[in-house]
Amino acid sequence: MSVEQPLRVGVLGLGRAFTLMLPTWAADPRIQLVACCDPHDNATALFREQFGAQAHESAQALCADPNVEWVYIATPHPWHEAHAALAAAHGKHVLVEKPMALSLAECDRMIHAAKQAGTHLVVGHSHSFDRPVGLALDLIRSGRYGQVQSVLAFNFTDFLYRPRRPEELNTAQGGGVVFSQAAHQIDVVRLLAGGLVTSVYARTGAWDKARATEGAYGALLNFESGAFAQVHYNGYGFFDSDVWMDQVGELGQIKKPLTHQATRQKRIGASDEMREVAQKAERNYGGPAYTPSASHDTAGFQHFGPVLVSCSQADLRLTPQGVEVHDVHGVQLVPCAAMDIPRQEVVDELWSIARHGASPVHGGAWSKATMEVCLGILASAQQGQPITMQHQTASYSPV
Ligand SMILES: NC(=O)c1ccc[n+]([C@@H]2O[C@H](COP(=O)([O-])OP(=O)(O)OC[C@H]3O[C@@H](n4cnc5c(N)ncnc54)[C@H](O)[C@@H]3O)[C@@H](O)[C@H]2O)c1
Repeated sequence: MSVEQPLRVGVLGLGRAFTLMLPTWAADPRIQLVACCDPHDNATALFREQFGAQAHESAQALCADPNVEWVYIATPHPWHEAHAALAAAHGKHVLVEKPMALSLAECDRMIHAAKQAGTHLVVGHSHSFDRPVGLALDLIRSGRYGQVQSVLAFNFTDFLYRPRRPEELNTAQGGGVVFSQAAHQIDVVRLLAGGLVTSVYARTGAWDKARATEGAYGALLNFESGAFAQVHYNGYGFFDSDVWMDQVGELGQIKKPLTHQATRQKRIGASDEMREVAQKAERNYGGPAYTPSASHDTAGFQHFGPVLVSCSQADLRLTPQGVEVHDVHGVQLVPCAAMDIPRQEVVDELWSIARHGASPVHGGAWSKATMEVCLGILASAQQGQPITMQHQTASYSPV
């Protein structure tokens, strides 16, 4: 196959995750969207019209489509294992949304299926793909600032009060912020601190009986290198930690003040589950409130809240523009190279794997290790004790 040929992607699930990835898929010439499958007819009709692509009636048919080379699995997490196995059985490479799956056994079966089929398995998008994270990793690996001693990562969002499907508010079905959000934060922290978590000690918070899943967590992670990380997530945020990201939101947009208050006010009195499901779908691709994302209000790179890395010779603050280095000489911003397409880093990774034979950064074993930490947060909070990790993989050798 010629190296110039775009990757032919079939999409399983045209919901929120797809809506957020669409600006990437649509703008990057290395991608061709060739097929989709989703029970929402309005979404598949728009997909057919926009991309001249095939809409399939079932995941099975999409995976069997000879025109599909990679399957982007953007279905709810309980489907990830089954859909990844189906794709592998048809010899298709997989990009599966975070979290990889709901248990380590599911992760193992996904890894095994891809290995048996000789196909690639990549987990993402997660915010560890963000360019400032990559830049911070390069700076750390250069050895210029000495060894990583600690990482502080936190995020105050309105996650719990955005429109949700009932499963997203039920931990047993993969709901709550540990399953839905921690993979972003843990992936970032593991990447920067070397990857090898030895133990996790955590607390979780389920503070709203009407939305009875974890909306918050705090955890202390120990690393094999001796480094430690503190991670904190609050999806009930009245406060908005984007004020400490130069008022730039998760998607790189200018964050409007009082966004969290507005999200909560929309929920007041809205107790009808079905109405809430409809509200979530309305702003997704093909829905009545769907608006294609505009690039003009992009103010910086995407991010997952403030992250500070303490190395022996400098503190590194990740910003929406790059990495701010605080050392004995003062403060200096190392800017990230400009990027025309949001989340282009995801395509960079797929392209390097598919067309240049590179190994994935966000492969099955790496992402299973992130899930081990996420599951460790839940287990530690439940048991009130630290949980030892056994399936960790390194992101770099100690400097
Ligand atoms: N990386 C990110 O920024 C990001 C953002 C949102 C969601 N996600 C992840 O994406 C996944 C989906 O979440 P979401 O918020 O998009 O949910 P969603 O409900 O908005 O979308 C899911 C879509 O999958 C479709 N679907 C469900 N079962 C299907 C099946 N068997 N075959 C084909 N289509 C099916 C639904 O009709 C829906 O359109 C989750 O794992 C979530 O964690 C990632």
